[in-house]
Amino acid sequence: MSVRQFGVLTGGGDAPGLNAVIRALVVTAYSNGMKVIGIKRGWAGLLDGGEVTPLSLEDVEDIHRTGGTILGSSRTNPEKHSDGVEQVVRNLEKHHCDALVAIGGDDTLGVAQKLYEGGMKIVGVPKTIDNDLSATDYTFGFDTAINIATEAIDRLHTTAKSHDRVLVVEIMGRYSGWLTFNSGMAGGAHVILLPEEKFDIEEVCDVLKKRREAGHNYTIIAVSEGATPSDTREFITQDDKVDEFGHVKLGGIAARLAKVIEDKTGQESRFVVLGHVQRGGAPTAFDRVIGTRLGVRAAQLVAEGGFGQMAALRGTNIVGVPIADAVGKIKVVDQARRDEVKLFMGV
Ligand code: F6P
Repeated sequence: MSVRQFGVLTGGGDAPGLNAVIRALVVTAYSNGMKVIGIKRGWAGLLDGGEVTPLSLEDVEDIHRTGGTILGSSRTNPEKHSDGVEQVVRNLEKHHCDALVAIGGDDTLGVAQKLYEGGMKIVGVPKTIDNDLSATDYTFGFDTAINIATEAIDRLHTTAKSHDRVLVVEIMGRYSGWLTFNSGMAGGAHVILLPEEKFDIEEVCDVLKKRREAGHNYTIIAVSEGATPSDTREFITQDDKVDEFGHVKLGGIAARLAKVIEDKTGQESRFVVLGHVQRGGAPTAFDRVIGTRLGVRAAQLVAEGGFGQMAALRGTNIVGVPIADAVGKIKVVDQARRDEVKLFMGV
């Protein structure tokens, strides 16, 4: 039986470009004779009685230019709620959704894959500003976040130089340092520290020393929130809380680093946490285009019955790939790129 109406939800941290995906899904659905129901706040909108809203062409007019998600998002995991999966199935039936498009990262798509294995008609769209999802070359939101972080690093150069200071900037990225790698390289950070490789604080101090000897009295350090010093086993976190997918709340590595550097070298140090500024605001043209093309392909997959697949960017093409290829295997910054970064240490 062909799909007459499908639901769409956005789960996990928001990413600029989500609204472009939603708009493209709706436009493509209508041109294929299908209707779309928006599900509010990720999987949370399919629990209890469900919280949904029909999406017309008017509802999505022009939304691709705006950040966030018109549907709202959450880190709700239906598997952590008693009867949660059954509630999801029941609510989709109740709201006459023959299929579901789940837009999200590893957590959201992990739930989607399990529901697909349980018999649900699901299509995925990869999303995360961290760019750490496998099976797609880039995720939308990443380009916007890189540009925000790069501008911040650019701005930190002038103030650090004026005061002969060390400035440590903390950039999002839990397990993968893609954001820090790209913005650190583009912004010309003198030290780039990623979650992929533990760092030695003495080596960082050596870079500062060499820079001072070369007449450069300031240093910019770009550090991923998930980066850890070699003498620390665990992530630096804000508190002990974990979300429904078991993730800790990261934060604090820049503050800690700035203090240790000042104590060890005597050079005045400050830190900046970019935080959610990186996820906010309007998407770049690149993210609008990728989001739109992913949305078109995802709606086409629904129309073709390509369930269990996700729209993905491969080279310059948008293709369907199994959702299973994307989940459970975080894409990290490879050794060759990490070696490239090392060439620019202190430069
Ligand atoms: O969505 C990815 C991300 O932005 C990570 O880089 C970051 O660690 C996390 O989300 C922050 O999550 P929250 O907004 O729930 O604090």
